[in-house]
Amino acid sequence: MGRLLSGRLKMAASGRLAMRMLSGCGWVRGSDPAVLSRLRDEAVVRPGFLSQAEEDTLTRELEPQLRRRRYDGRLAMRMLSGCGWVRGSDPAVLSRLRDEAVVRPGFLSQAEEDTLTRELEPQLRRRRYEYDHWDAAIHGFRETEKSRWSDASQAILHRVQEAAFGPDESLLSLVHVLDLEPQGYIKPHVDSVKFCGSTIAGLSLLSPSVMKLVHTQEPEQWLELLLEPGSLYILRGSARYDFSHEILRDEESFFGERHVPRGRRISVICRSLPEGMGSGRPGKPPPAS
Ligand code: OGA
Ligand code: MN
Repeated sequence: MGRLLSGRLKMAASGRLAMRMLSGCGWVRGSDPAVLSRLRDEAVVRPGFLSQAEEDTLTRELEPQLRRRRYDGRLAMRMLSGCGWVRGSDPAVLSRLRDEAVVRPGFLSQAEEDTLTRELEPQLRRRRYEYDHWDAAIHGFRETEKSRWSDASQAILHRVQEAAFGPDESLLSLVHVLDLEPQGYIKPHVDSVKFCGSTIAGLSLLSPSVMKLVHTQEPEQWLELLLEPGSLYILRGSARYDFSHEILRDEESFFGERHVPRGRRISVICRSLPEGMGSGRPGKPPPAS
């Protein structure tokens, strides 16, 4: 076991896929990172493909013919399994936000993740990490807004746009790049409606982290999103407006029972234009307050 684990850790040194394996979570496990990567588009699981209503439709139609008892409930089973990328306070909130708080693990290939990191690093390195501004929602961070990208990165951002934004949604032309040091974190906040429309989409690079969403009026309703490197998260609608979001500091960085150790994390965040703002007018990114 020790040898196996240290072997895997060696493979994991710089690999997101190996980390997916080690995490033991998610919907696909593999013998090694290479096979996971090679079959990424050829052996696919789409959890939650059916809505509860669709599942019920099929089951009700089949039941009389099959005469077999059905399980008690998909949502409860998902929660009990303790797996996946989204956990919630209760099945109802998980179900309600199924399309509004979305995680797509492995959205970036390792090569794409490297492309973005290499391109951002020199720009970020020129800045200092900032701490404890009087109104700061973010602690231990440096950031930049970027409008000019290499062709390779533009292609990635285009994929984000297609995955996260509707055809009628315009994006802020400046992409927000946030670099959190290992001790850095983002306190609960709702992005200002002055600077951001109804959709927020973020790529995570380098370190896994946990994003927590808490309902601003009913704090007993919450979600946890497990953001591994290379993942894309999307917040829209109610998840964007009615819930605060935060990136947990290392001491509090738990996805359920599991501690998700924080290292340095870079996020690349695309936002839709605030309602009523014509496209092409660059907005300042929200000061996250
Ligand atoms: C923000 C924010 C989340 C992230 O800057 O407003 O919430 O993924 N960032 O870095
Ligand atoms: Mn935010």
